[in-house]
Amino acid sequence: MSAVGDDGHKQMKHVPQPPHGRLGFPPQMQTRPSKQLKSIKFLALATVVAASVAASGCGNDSKPDLANGKTLFIEKCGACHVMARAGTVGTIGPDLDDAFRRARIDGMGDTIEGVTLEQIKFPSQKLTPASLNMPADIVEGMDARDVAAYVGLVAGLPGKDTGELADIGGGDDGMSLFKTNCGSCHVLADAGTAGTVGPNLDMSKLDVKAMIAQIANGGNGMPAFEGTLSEDQIKMIAEYIDEVR
Ligand code: HEC
Ligand code: HEC
Repeated sequence: MSAVGDDGHKQMKHVPQPPHGRLGFPPQMQTRPSKQLKSIKFLALATVVAASVAASGCGNDSKPDLANGKTLFIEKCGACHVMARAGTVGTIGPDLDDAFRRARIDGMGDTIEGVTLEQIKFPSQKLTPASLNMPADIVEGMDARDVAAYVGLVAGLPGKDTGELADIGGGDDGMSLFKTNCGSCHVLADAGTAGTVGPNLDMSKLDVKAMIAQIANGGNGMPAFEGTLSEDQIKMIAEYIDEVR
C-alpha cells in the first residue's frame, strides 16, 4: 500500500475548493453530522468493514488492478468528488482528500479502502433533489474492489501518481474533460460513460450554444462548471458532445 507514495510531498496539485464550505453542499444542504459524531461513525464502520473483509478473505488472493481502479474512478466518481491524485474536481459529494486526510496521516490506507467499498454498496440517499445522491453499486465486483483500492492508495495524498498510473487521466481534450467532469452523471457512448444521474447526452437536442449555457450554469441537480472549468474547456466539451452524439 505504499508503492505510489514515494513522491508524496514534492508537488501539491491545485484543486479548486468547493464553493460552499468543506463539503461543497449549499448551506441548506449541510446536514451532515458533527465532526466528532462523524469520526465515531467512521470508526464503527471501519471496524465492521475490517471484519467483513477479513471474513471474505477478499484482497488476499489476487492483487487489485489499480490502473482499472483509477480509470473507473475518473469516469464514475470524479464528477461528484474532488481527489487530487485522480485530477477530479466534482463538488456534489465530499472532497475525498479532506474526508480521508486524517486516516491517511494515521496510516490507515486499508481502512480508507474498506470504507470506500462499503460506501459504494450503501451510499446514503438523503439529499434533495434526489439526483444529487450517490447511486448504489455504480461499480461492482472486481471493479468496485479496484476503485476502492485506488482510493485507499491515494485519497488524502498530495503530489502526482507515478508509474503506469501517471498515464491515466489528465488530458485536456474534449473527451478527457468529459470523462473526468461529466461521465459519472451522463451516458455518452463515444466517451464510454454510463452515468444515469442526468439525461443520456446521445439523445440531447440542445445546440452547442445551449449546451455551453447548461454546462456553465448547471441547475436542477447539475453543478455549475463556471469557475471550475475555463470558458475554452466548456466550449471544447460542448463541441465534442455535438460532434459525437
Ligand atoms: C452523483 C454524485 C456522486 C457520484 C457519481 C459518486 N458519489 Fe460518492 N458521494 C456523493 C455524496 C452526495 C456523498 C455524501 C453522502 C453519503 O455519504 O452518501 C458521497 C460520499 C462518498 C464517500 C464518503 C465520504 C465521507 O466523507 O465519508 C465516499 C468514500 C465516496 N462517496 C466514494 C465514491 C466513489 C468511489 C464513487 C464512484 C464509484 C462515488 N463516490 C460516486 C455523491 C456521489
Ligand atoms: C452530478 C451530476 C451531473 C454532472 C456532474 C453533470 N451533469 Fe449534466 N445534467 C445533470 C442533470 C441532473 C441534468 C438535468 C437538468 C435538468 O433537467 O434541468 C443535466 C443536464 C445536462 C444537459 C442538458 C441535456 C438536455 O438535452 O436537456 C447537458 C448538455 C449536460 N447536462 C451536460 C453536462 C456536461 C458537459 C457535464 C460536465 C462538464 C455535466 N453535464 C455534468 C447532472 C449532471
